[in-house]
Amino acid sequence: MRIVLVGPPGAGKGTQAAFLAKDLAIPHISTGDLFRANISQGTELGQRAKAIMDAGELVPDEVTIDMARDRMEQPDAVDGFLLDGFPRNVPQAEALDEILKVEGHQLDAVLDLEVPEEEVVKRIAGRRICRKDSSHVFHVTYSPPKTEGVCDVCGGELYQRGDDSEETVRKRLDVYHVQTEPIIDYYRAQGLVVTISALGEVTEVTQRAKDALKQQPEAS
Ligand code: AP5
Ligand code: MG
Repeated sequence: MRIVLVGPPGAGKGTQAAFLAKDLAIPHISTGDLFRANISQGTELGQRAKAIMDAGELVPDEVTIDMARDRMEQPDAVDGFLLDGFPRNVPQAEALDEILKVEGHQLDAVLDLEVPEEEVVKRIAGRRICRKDSSHVFHVTYSPPKTEGVCDVCGGELYQRGDDSEETVRKRLDVYHVQTEPIIDYYRAQGLVVTISALGEVTEVTQRAKDALKQQPEAS
């Protein structure tokens, strides 16, 4: 299956993607995680992306699209993938359609995670992520690690993302409303959008997501 996850910062895209990708046996592709990996490796791409991410803005489309295309072309993604954080505006959605078309593929579903803004603020304020792999996500209250400050998965150090400050989160929410929300209408016109509430226990949301995806016919 080829699925896009969409939702505001802190909605739980990364958290849900980890479970859904495992369940569907497809890779979880997060452009945010790819940028963070480049930052920690000190690549040129990482150096370019860091200031933009810390300001809560979007990394330019050409850079992002090339990076996402390279990842989608990896052997583990031939039978499908779960995209998290890409596309993030209409030009990226159009580029994704083109990338898929070349291979004769289509998206199967766009899973839209709905969550009120006050919940987003609570989730982001308590989020801690792993320095070794930013897809390992915890929350000081809702999903604490077994040992404070240490990743349960790989033993890496947990830290608070640079773009999780109150001011940057406000900016990221603005960017989401103005630039990313329009992709929901873009995909709705293609009959691909399934919207679920992202409130409740993580396992409940995962179940809701699985049920919703089952309603969506597989395209390719
Ligand atoms: P990215 O890393 O994608 O950030 P985001 O979209 O803002 O989303 P988040 O990762 O903040 O939230 P999430 O929905 O994954 O929530 P999570 O599961 O962690 O992008 C960062 C930046 O990179 C962008 O601002 C941009 O600069 C750049 N970028 C990335 N993609 C780009 C693109 N395509 N184009 C241009 N630029 C791009 O959960 C949040 C917290 O809540 C966690 O602590 C978790 O434990 C907790 N939680 C999760 N679910 C629940 C639950 N059900 N109940 C209680 N707590 C929960
Ligand atoms: Mg995330």
